[in-house]
Amino acid sequence: MPSAVELRDITKRFPGVVANDGVRFEAAEGEVHALLGENGAGKSTLSNILTGLYRPDEGEIVLWGEPVSFASPRDALDAGIGMVHQHFRLVPPFTVAENVILGDHRGEGKKFMVHPRRIERNVAELGKRYRIAVDPRARIWQLSLGEQQRVEILKALYRQARILILDEPTAVLTPQEAESLFETLRVMADEGRTVIFISHKLHEVKAVADRVTVLRDGRTIDTVDTGSATPRSLAALMVGREVSLAERVERDGEIGAPVLEVRGLWAHGDRGGDALRGVDLQVRTGEIVAIAGVAGNGQRELAETITGMRAAADGQVVVDGRPLRGGDAREAIRAGIAHVPEDRLHTGVAPSLSIASNVVLKSYRGKQVTRGPLLRLRAIRDHAASLIRRYDVRGGGPELPARQLSGGNLQKVVLAREFHGDPRVLVVASPTRGLDVAAIETVHRYLRDAASSGVGVLLISEDLDEILALADRVAVIYEGAIVGEVDAGATTVEEIGLLMAGGAG
Ligand SMILES: Nc1ncnc2c1ncn2[C@@H]1O[C@H](COP(=O)(O)OP(=O)(O)OP(=O)(O)O)[C@@H](O)[C@H]1O
Ligand SMILES: [Mg+2]
Repeated sequence: MPSAVELRDITKRFPGVVANDGVRFEAAEGEVHALLGENGAGKSTLSNILTGLYRPDEGEIVLWGEPVSFASPRDALDAGIGMVHQHFRLVPPFTVAENVILGDHRGEGKKFMVHPRRIERNVAELGKRYRIAVDPRARIWQLSLGEQQRVEILKALYRQARILILDEPTAVLTPQEAESLFETLRVMADEGRTVIFISHKLHEVKAVADRVTVLRDGRTIDTVDTGSATPRSLAALMVGREVSLAERVERDGEIGAPVLEVRGLWAHGDRGGDALRGVDLQVRTGEIVAIAGVAGNGQRELAETITGMRAAADGQVVVDGRPLRGGDAREAIRAGIAHVPEDRLHTGVAPSLSIASNVVLKSYRGKQVTRGPLLRLRAIRDHAASLIRRYDVRGGGPELPARQLSGGNLQKVVLAREFHGDPRVLVVASPTRGLDVAAIETVHRYLRDAASSGVGVLLISEDLDEILALADRVAVIYEGAIVGEVDAGATTVEEIGLLMAGGAG
């Protein structure tokens, strides 16, 4: 098949890092080509170069045999390159259809008169053709992350992208949603488009991609056919050593008295209606309890209500036998509840602040951080530097703005801060979403260590492999209620999957 895109010796430097170091890459028409590499390996940088966001310091981009150079993302768009970013770029108060046409300089968006009905019809048709189900009239803020992603894909297709880059698209999807995304990608490839698919999930790479290129430390390590690769061989290429893929491990430490109790908890959702409908839950010290469920069944609202970010409509959250008033994040922190939210870029960190500021965000009233009205800057920096070392945050020192970190390293910053505050209860949502296999190994170890040291861990995850590897008990949430509870050591993915779909418990 003819080559659609070829990158020749691309180098991109940032102060202190060579993000891409002579990268070579080639993808054909009609191919799904995966890009694999550890956190910070340079995948997003490479796609940003291909989409005209960054200019390479060295090297050449060749599209359909012609060398090109992009002065801006618009040039890349005009050349037929579309991108679905790791962090979405949609306008929350606007509708799906409005977001799809926004900034399009060829179609409806340019005309003085827009015809909302016609745009909505076009968007709906496009959705049908590519098997992307989304309501054109819904507003972005009402959508789950999975649905928002579909909008990003529609947006690229609307602009007639011939090469589509998806940066970790399945990180925000349930297994079922991922399955339907793969169908969409296949339809696109069969039409002769080129799909560049960035993912950390090795079995997905194997399932959807024809070939895979592996990056490590900014360099191309190899390009292989996925047919002849195994998840294990890919992991080894990626990390440069053998790694243990997530497996169930017995933990030390005892399970004690209930530390977190949720009693008859009701909460309203953002779209009106009841997001939580009488949730009862218990997490004991030293225990990891997982909440499994398809995204959008109340997980986010549950985490937010427990951590005081959302007021309960009814019911109680109790820590160490003491009921919280609720609706007050500071009260929850004081009670010993730490929170690793699912949306780490917006809720998890302050993107423009430094890593150092981000790790002290929650302890700014403590005496390690302030002396009287003054911030102890040196102490903060030292503290940040030691956390950066301990949690293996790669990409920069304490002064680096958090938004410049790669996705996985950003997650490590959030984890470092939350683990460090000596919590009684840890509420973690999708803690390894977007992390590479080596980082997952690390995070899982931290979660097990936290439990072993007596913390009660509430793990909210859509990743059943992760749940089965970590949890003692699994509670399944469906339409805002716990519909079943199983012992993680004695259950199967199928059993949980059935409960997740609202099946009999
Ligand atoms: N705008 C920037 N300024 C400074 N450094 C950057 C910038 N963007 C990326 N980097 C650095 O370049 C390196 C590669 O980052 P990149 O985001 O491309 O990694 P990645 O492979 O996408 O990782 P992940 O899997 O975690 O998303 C990292 O060390 C990162 O910290
Ligand atoms: Mg990335």
